[in-house]
Amino acid sequence: MDLQLSPLDQQRFGPVTAKATLADSDSAAAVQAWCRAQAVQLLIARLPTSAIALTQALEAGGARLADTLVYYTRKALAASAPDLPAGYRWRLATAADADAVAALAGLTFAGYAGHYHADARLDRAAADAVYADWAANSCRSAAVADAVILLEAADGIAAFATLKDRGQHVFEGVLFGVHPQHQGRGLYHCLMQLSQHWAAAGGFTQMLVSTQVTNLSVQKVWCRLGFEPSASYYTFHQWFD
Ligand SMILES: CC(C)(COP(=O)(O)OP(=O)(O)OC[C@H]1O[C@@H](n2cnc3c(N)ncnc32)[C@H](O)[C@@H]1OP(=O)(O)O)[C@@H](O)C(=O)NCCC(=O)NCCS
Repeated sequence: MDLQLSPLDQQRFGPVTAKATLADSDSAAAVQAWCRAQAVQLLIARLPTSAIALTQALEAGGARLADTLVYYTRKALAASAPDLPAGYRWRLATAADADAVAALAGLTFAGYAGHYHADARLDRAAADAVYADWAANSCRSAAVADAVILLEAADGIAAFATLKDRGQHVFEGVLFGVHPQHQGRGLYHCLMQLSQHWAAAGGFTQMLVSTQVTNLSVQKVWCRLGFEPSASYYTFHQWFD
């Protein structure tokens, strides 16, 4: 059972928060008992959608569904760099880009359908800030991201993609955002190709991506690029008061 307190979430939102990554064999009653013993106010639990008995036990104990994630993988990377639409160029971010990338992430993820936004008891501005902080930290720290790809236009950074080494030559495309004024021009498609271009040069052989099941824009792009579904997870929130 992978279950621990999350000081970061407590700092962001206020309640004493625990985060759990659960498997089929875990016991909902044991997780909930641990939370009560630790005076946890909010439990955020992620588990495979195949763990139906555990899902139902969490629900029976008072947990509520907050989002559903789908994962896709591509088992052979396309190494060539794409032709970018006219007026755009790409480069890797440095720590100096952190504030600009945070501002862009704040804009693109405002009101995003993630599990924090799905919980009406959590402050929405704080939920928006999760993504801005994450994007900024991705530029600043190799522990958060191994690379951040930027697409720039004449008016500044138009899009970003954060990439993380997951071991065994697999890398994950973690957080992607395209400025609202630059959406619908294929920039996300380009970021997915550039991510593979960067990774192939670094010796990676597979790419992993995930999103909310409701995010059809990105899943359409993944299908066109030859990605295949590989896993899915529920995120539950449970309040203990
Ligand atoms: C999702 C997102 C990255 C797509 O960026 P984009 O550069 O506009 O995507 P593309 O131009 O490559 O288009 C991809 C597909 O999504 C569609 N699409 C893009 N923006 C859309 C929107 N706002 N509403 C509906 N469909 C949209 C495009 O029309 C295209 O489909 P089509 O070829 O059938 O028309 C961008 O909308 C975004 O930043 N969203 C908020 C953050 C997010 O969801 N990030 C991804 C998960 S980490």
